[in-house]
Amino acid sequence: MRNQKPQHFCPAPCQAKPRAHSLRALVLLSLFATACGPASQGGHAGTPEDPWVIGMSQCNLGEPWRVQMDADVRAAAEAHPNLRVIFKDAQNNSLTQRAQVEEFVDQGVDLIIISPKEAAPLTRPVAAAYQQGVPVIVLDREVQGEEFTTFIGADNVRIGREAGVWIREVLGGRGKIVELKGLMTSTPGQDRNRGFLEGLALDQNPELELVFSGEMQWLEPNARREMESALATNPQIDVVYAHNDPGAHGAWLAARAAGREGDILFVGIDALPHEGQQYAQEGILDATFLYPTGGREAVETALAILRGEEVPKRKTLGTHLFTHENAAQGGEPIG
Ligand code: FRU
Repeated sequence: MRNQKPQHFCPAPCQAKPRAHSLRALVLLSLFATACGPASQGGHAGTPEDPWVIGMSQCNLGEPWRVQMDADVRAAAEAHPNLRVIFKDAQNNSLTQRAQVEEFVDQGVDLIIISPKEAAPLTRPVAAAYQQGVPVIVLDREVQGEEFTTFIGADNVRIGREAGVWIREVLGGRGKIVELKGLMTSTPGQDRNRGFLEGLALDQNPELELVFSGEMQWLEPNARREMESALATNPQIDVVYAHNDPGAHGAWLAARAAGREGDILFVGIDALPHEGQQYAQEGILDATFLYPTGGREAVETALAILRGEEVPKRKTLGTHLFTHENAAQGGEPIG
């Protein structure tokens, strides 16, 4: 598998200032520099005086998990005075995010980190940046194809499957389930749904029933509305599986308003310390699976790329299960 486009593989000399001894050497060096991708694109030396510039395009900052991702990127970058990060918030609009990627390229940043809203509309701008020699790290949600430098994120099929198995086992193979899905044009929504169905294994468990499925697009108020419909049409619900913790919390609020929260288990994903982990400790959520932001790993990988090192095409981050019993002790690693 190709790790990086060939013009991206650039050994250390393309970042060092060459000492020219003759006209021929100068011509050769300038040809070499042209062939070098990432470090020469923005033209920064990668020193505290002339730091490498990273453009970070975040699909929205309206959700706590994304605020945490930017904070993780910022904290990791602050440890490296030879890095500067420009943050942009696409406000949950794929067209805005597309324009941001194009602006970063025009600005001559040395590397782009993008956490895309949706796969299809962001695939082309990411590929175009990559083809122009700007390394691109895709973080958390995926784009289509392979035209980016590297992808970093947790395995959403795996997390969905773990949630499905947990629910099947807790229910003893018998019960009525509600699924509240994330945005289904984003890859975590698709993968968390697919993995969940695999984990539930409905065909081998005829007494497990998916009684309601709604798309809440990652947002708590939408989840609450969807859950109100689920409650209105289903006198019995045993478990809600939401693709993120805001969704699970929205469902819990709806159930509480209907006086039914005590009859239902709530399972989410993200497990931020001050969100899902706290809900688990408070007994609002029965389980939540850690979805790491990857912010620190993205900065470390960016530095490796900018130094001219090869990086793997994918870095898969792990997860933890948090329940009421183990949340205060940091959850249980799943591996
Ligand atoms: C935030 C979020 C998280 C979720 C992730 C998936 O926008 O919805 O809650 O885990 O995105 O990409």
